[in-house]
Amino acid sequence: MEKKQRVLTGITTSGTPHLGNLVGAILPAIKASKSENVSSFLFLADYHSLIKNTDSELTHSSSFEIAACWLASGLDPNKVIFYRQSDIPHIFELAWILGCLASKGLLNRAHAYKAAISENELNGSKDMDKGITMGLFNYPILMAADILMFKADIVPVGQDQKQHIEMARDIAIKFNHHYGELLTPPEAQISEDTGILPGIDGRKMSKSYNNTIPIFSDENLLKKTVMKIKTNSLEPGEPKDSEGCNIFSIYKAISSENEISDFQKRYDEGISWGDAKKTLYENLNQFLLPYKTEYSKIIQDRAYVESVLIQGSKKALETSAPLMEKVRKIVGIKGF
Ligand code: TRP
Repeated sequence: MEKKQRVLTGITTSGTPHLGNLVGAILPAIKASKSENVSSFLFLADYHSLIKNTDSELTHSSSFEIAACWLASGLDPNKVIFYRQSDIPHIFELAWILGCLASKGLLNRAHAYKAAISENELNGSKDMDKGITMGLFNYPILMAADILMFKADIVPVGQDQKQHIEMARDIAIKFNHHYGELLTPPEAQISEDTGILPGIDGRKMSKSYNNTIPIFSDENLLKKTVMKIKTNSLEPGEPKDSEGCNIFSIYKAISSENEISDFQKRYDEGISWGDAKKTLYENLNQFLLPYKTEYSKIIQDRAYVESVLIQGSKKALETSAPLMEKVRKIVGIKGF
């Protein structure tokens, strides 16, 4: 029998689940997990969240909310290995070993680190590393450990994460070259939708930009947020371009082919931005309703969410423990 492909992805648990998480990562990962030829590892990157956030309450609540969001979106814990990164100590042990192989120069080139440096430059700071933690610098190593610990073949991510998967690949190849073939160099899978869902200001929807559409908020807040989406200043009656339009891009991510072509027609006919937003809001509300209903049930039962994650961690450890034992041995860390 052909070996199943291992698909692994995680979400950093900083902040409340938003539409970008749902349509960009969660729903595609759950869809892929239903295929017979795939074994899925889906996890909460809760230690990654400490890089962005030192508020312990937020770290905790966000981890719970993202977990509940995966479950509300249809993740089947019997089909998928669903776990918390922090429950797998082997990941952190592997991260150290990988850090000893990865060259500093490789990490100097990481986008997130470079962006932080440029910001310091822009602000005229004398210290280029001002406010930059080792957590941010090492971020790609921890991510490489997340991936390599489970011998993932495919890592579905947004475009912005592609470089991290390439780094994980480089590090795996270097490890294998030094110590012998043991780790699996992963491949990124960049889906068309992931990473490009715009936020309400047109940049990628991300907690870091404060431009997200929350998915489990009440209808008023949802409406308010949709009304804030940036548009150009074309008047009602003037034909509008759907390409590059934030409202249209978001609409497209949650609507059927028919709805999309109807909406396109209305753009050609010069729909007003007010009506376009109203249409988006109504569709979004409909789209989110089943997830919301499920979510509000799940968050009532914290013990259930916890038990699912404990079961998931047990299964994940069955994969990570034997590989970690091999890794230790192959690098020469073993009993006398
Ligand atoms: N860095 C990813 C993000 O912020 C989350 C993440 C952590 C991840 N480890 C991972 C994604 C491993 C895929 C594989 O979106």
